[in-house]
Amino acid sequence: MKKSLLFILLCWHANSFAQTTAGLTISSNTGETVSRHIYGQFAEHLGRGIYDGFWVDKNLPVKKQGRIRLDVVNALRKIKVPNLRWPGGCFADEYHWRDGIGPSMQRPKMVNTNWGGVTEDNSFGTHEFLALCKLLDTEPYIAGNVGSGTVEEMAKWVEYLNSGSSSTVAKMRAQNGHPEPFKVSFWGVGNESWGCGGEMTPEFYAGQFRRYATYARDYPGTPLKKIASGANSFDYNWTEVCMKNIPLNMMWGLSLHYYTIPTGNWGKKGSATGFTEQEYFNTMVSCLKMEELVNKHSAIMDKYDPDKKVALVVDEWGIWTDPEPGTNPGFLYQQNSLRDALIAATTLNIFNNHCDRVKMAELAQTVNVLQALILTDKAKMLLTPTYHVFDMYKVHQDAKYLAVNLKSPDYDFNGKTIPAINVSASQDATGKIHISLVNVDMNKAVSISTQLKDLKWSAVTGEILTSANITDVNTFQQPSKLHINNFTGAKKDGDDLKVTIPAKSVVMLELK
Ligand code: AHR
Repeated sequence: MKKSLLFILLCWHANSFAQTTAGLTISSNTGETVSRHIYGQFAEHLGRGIYDGFWVDKNLPVKKQGRIRLDVVNALRKIKVPNLRWPGGCFADEYHWRDGIGPSMQRPKMVNTNWGGVTEDNSFGTHEFLALCKLLDTEPYIAGNVGSGTVEEMAKWVEYLNSGSSSTVAKMRAQNGHPEPFKVSFWGVGNESWGCGGEMTPEFYAGQFRRYATYARDYPGTPLKKIASGANSFDYNWTEVCMKNIPLNMMWGLSLHYYTIPTGNWGKKGSATGFTEQEYFNTMVSCLKMEELVNKHSAIMDKYDPDKKVALVVDEWGIWTDPEPGTNPGFLYQQNSLRDALIAATTLNIFNNHCDRVKMAELAQTVNVLQALILTDKAKMLLTPTYHVFDMYKVHQDAKYLAVNLKSPDYDFNGKTIPAINVSASQDATGKIHISLVNVDMNKAVSISTQLKDLKWSAVTGEILTSANITDVNTFQQPSKLHINNFTGAKKDGDDLKVTIPAKSVVMLELK
């Protein structure tokens, strides 16, 4: 008994001090920029995302503008959300925009068949969404209805939003309180058209895209950036057929959806808060598939579009777990742990490193749904670990991309391995260099020796996000258990940068 206790203590001691090494080179002159739009968010009419998330009861005792909750708005302004995708998701292909304009009491009600069968009262419609975007200082990205809508309905929505003419539709916008065009340029032509958006074949969808996109007109001052509904995860044929059949000058972007499912089983995805190291390891394996997906979808796009005119838009990504016990399963409400933060940081590093093709992405979803940035409970709200990653990473937005070459040690578990470290780097307009490092190894710190080629710097500071346990979460009782701390594990050593990054942590370094 005593011997085994000693053994456990020895193992614990060895693990907490275990350390491996990595080599990193960072160089400039890639000519690429990390588009701020990689840091976009997604807000669907789903569960408590819009209703009870952004748009609350008029009697809720929080500061509001109209019914928009301002504590949520202010928290999101801090992380500089560049765009917000709306109204879906699957909801988009059943949404009829005319139901969501005009006097609120007169708006028709519908059943949200995709998400819990609840009544949608349409009190949050086009004007309310655009008022929210204005408060957030973010660009709207609207997904039009291809699945159950018509070409005429989409064309008129674009006209309603963007036309400054005296057409009946444009005048209706003025009568509803907004004489000036809204100037919405990001425009999704359907969502998941291979599934909830109409169960189409890629050939059929490509044809539909051409029809819908033709009549979604550019109005003066607002050329549309049309985004085609792209592949589900590993469906490379979808990308191939779209790239082959849609003229490049008709689409600004082609989307991709990929969710990290901890168990790999959509029927039983795994708990957001109670998981073993094996399940954590599997989750990170699944998260890292994003690298393969981006590479393979990009390679197909390169064949048809070698000049990289069409963006790969990963407009739904994140971890999808079982819903929190006791909540409506149709509402997709899940907690958010340190694991989620490592997933967010790793995925954003992947996008940054592919910024030549990935020009836009949206995390699913902003408030109270899936891998949320913010959770609310009546008047309370909390910032999740994922929020803190977006806060740390905002420095990459629109910065010059720096090329990274990393030799990472392995994180090995039960005979399988993944790279322990992932990284991306950029240089902002003032010359500051930012390096975002993630150590996904649950047990070992990693010492990284970094050479920075052609880059001048003299001092380094840093921030870190970590916690004692990979399952740690922020709760309404303890909303700041996970928060950003100062990081002191980096130093200048001659011309090199030496960093020791603790196990299961995200570090952002600033060199100037
Ligand atoms: O984000 C939740 C759902 O996931 C979206 O509505 C749909 O597009 C995807 O399948």
